[in-house]
Amino acid sequence: MKDIMNAPFLVEMVRTITNMYNHGWDERNGGNISWLLDEADVARYLDVNAVTRDIPTGFEAPALDGKYFLVTGTGKYFKNVQYDPADNLGLIRVTDGGKNAQLLWGFTGGGKFTSEFPAHMMSHAARLSVDPANRIVMHCHPANLLAMTYVHDLDSRAFTRTLWQMCTECIVVFPEGVNVLPWMLCGTNEIGEATAEEMKTARLVVWSQHGIYGAGKDLDETFGLIETAEKAAEIYMKIAHLPLVNTITDAQLHRMEERFGVKAREGWLD
Ligand code: 13P
Ligand code: ZN
Repeated sequence: MKDIMNAPFLVEMVRTITNMYNHGWDERNGGNISWLLDEADVARYLDVNAVTRDIPTGFEAPALDGKYFLVTGTGKYFKNVQYDPADNLGLIRVTDGGKNAQLLWGFTGGGKFTSEFPAHMMSHAARLSVDPANRIVMHCHPANLLAMTYVHDLDSRAFTRTLWQMCTECIVVFPEGVNVLPWMLCGTNEIGEATAEEMKTARLVVWSQHGIYGAGKDLDETFGLIETAEKAAEIYMKIAHLPLVNTITDAQLHRMEERFGVKAREGWLD
């Protein structure tokens, strides 16, 4: 059996978490990631029949039964993950229709998966239903996106149009736009269900006055989505209080669609 500390999924997870922390997106224990892994990849590093302990989830997700996830622990600081991955991360298998998680590795100090586990698992199920290649759900607290939810209309179309107008290439990176949820109580099944519903039509879901959720086929794609939206929000926060002299017009955004072979969300461009 190979050493799990050398597993590409673990190395890549630690690098991404450290990078997110260095971007200032994950103060204290802010943020969480879950990565859907193939059983064959896990079995190279772990005996998949050796269950360390069972952790009840408090919800159902039948579509994820038997699936493996590498996931961040609740209350764990992103800045510390690189120094002790085994305490801060866990590798689990979802069983009993989603009601239980079998811990196979990690959470060595007795911890458990993120408090946002319902939003992660329900989002995985929702993304897989529209994109079977989806593997990652990522949550963090980027300052400019968060700031924008205090001063901008929270209508998803209006919010997206502003982001598209802030950087020319935004429409290429997230042509489906971002969906915006109003403030809701975090860590609950309710916000999980609402997030999952929004995840059916976009890979980015903003939690007003809290942060953002991203989804994608790998860590790079998901990180890049959040990075691009956050850059656009940063431009917005730099200019929102100044007289607007120029912008990117809808005609120009249509030219971007043609040049890059992407289609903006139906009805979101004039
Ligand atoms: P956890 O420490 O439980 O992952 O919570 C962090 C967070 O960002 C909650 O929204
Ligand atoms: Zn959060």
